[in-house]
Amino acid sequence: MIITCAELNQFRSYEHCALTPCAGVNVLLGDNGQGKTNVLEALYLCCTGRSHRTRQDRELIRWGAEFAAVRVQAQRRDGDHDVEIALNALGRRRIKVFGQEISRSGELLGHVTGVLFSPEDLRTVKDGPAERRRFVDMALSQIKPAYYYALQRYARALKQRNETLKAIAAQPALAATLDAWDEQLAAAGAELMRQRRAYVEKLNAVASETHRDIAEGREKLEIRYQPSVTGGDDAEAVAEALFGARENDMRRLSTSVGAHRDDVQILVEGRDVRAFGSQGQQRTAALAMRLSELDVMREQLGEWPMLMLDDVMSELDPGRRRQLIGRLKGIQTFITCTDAEDLAGAAIGQAWRVENGELKDA
Ligand SMILES: Nc1ncnc2c1ncn2[C@@H]1O[C@H](COP(=O)(O)OP(=O)(O)OP(=O)(O)O)[C@@H](O)[C@H]1O
Ligand SMILES: [Mg+2]
Repeated sequence: MIITCAELNQFRSYEHCALTPCAGVNVLLGDNGQGKTNVLEALYLCCTGRSHRTRQDRELIRWGAEFAAVRVQAQRRDGDHDVEIALNALGRRRIKVFGQEISRSGELLGHVTGVLFSPEDLRTVKDGPAERRRFVDMALSQIKPAYYYALQRYARALKQRNETLKAIAAQPALAATLDAWDEQLAAAGAELMRQRRAYVEKLNAVASETHRDIAEGREKLEIRYQPSVTGGDDAEAVAEALFGARENDMRRLSTSVGAHRDDVQILVEGRDVRAFGSQGQQRTAALAMRLSELDVMREQLGEWPMLMLDDVMSELDPGRRRQLIGRLKGIQTFITCTDAEDLAGAAIGQAWRVENGELKDA
């Protein structure tokens, strides 16, 4: 898949900006704070419906403006795709796909597909399980919009179950209504677990090679799914775990087991990189995970997603930089950097200089 055209209106620091990228390596070059990441953020928004930096739409709207809009046209194997997202300060969104307004947010997914590596990715490795679930959820949602709908069903059932737990404290007779929420939670949860397990296994299968390419030495990276429910990935096992936790949950007023408590373990040389990895090892593991995501998405989608690399080059030594650049053949890539020297050796197809919210051909 390649993006053939992108347009930003009142998005972050841009009043208006249009770009026609090449199918190969596209470079956004500029000093700090000029608007390079903002462009990647806009493209990523069209892939996932989310920013990688904020959950507040209002932050994406140019200061003083009332709305922001991003439009991306992409060429996939099955033809041209067109996605347009308009946001207003009240949190209202209007999303069009092929020029038609969609009614369910999941209909956005699968048209513009991409993988973003950004400095925020270090959090996937360093922070708590929520970041790692998000890592898996965002990739799977792009690959399978049905997964995204299962996530939505799960979140709704979880909210209802938690509300019921609180209501029971005042009205014990309501305990009988927990069965219905447990059933829904178990059905959606089991689906999430199966897909997560399969995805993490695929990720793990390519991760050690990806990691070896960009890591110093011969360290081995392993990625393992760690489900909250360990008795099996079927609805019965989840329902049983929920039932078993019920008494405890009624005391704590929240649901203590299920897919919302899943984790993914990241090991370098058999050790948890979160606890034992150096800063450099953590960074390399995070990059390797994104590059593995790229491989798995290709396998699952039948074509390469585009790749966005934010601020990655300055962190790698020349050898690893060469390795990374060598991997980019046939993949539409957007790279931000402050120093053109960092890209020595790359076949750059298109470059822009980013200055104060404007793009100029470089
Ligand atoms: N909603 C907004 N409206 C206007 N300007 C904004 C908005 N949000 C962020 N900015 C501006 O955008 C700029 C940051 O853009 P961006 O993060 O893309 O920079 P960058 O070129 O990637 O910098 P760095 O090299 O430091 O990563 C800042 O100057 C910030 O003030
Ligand atoms: Mg940046």
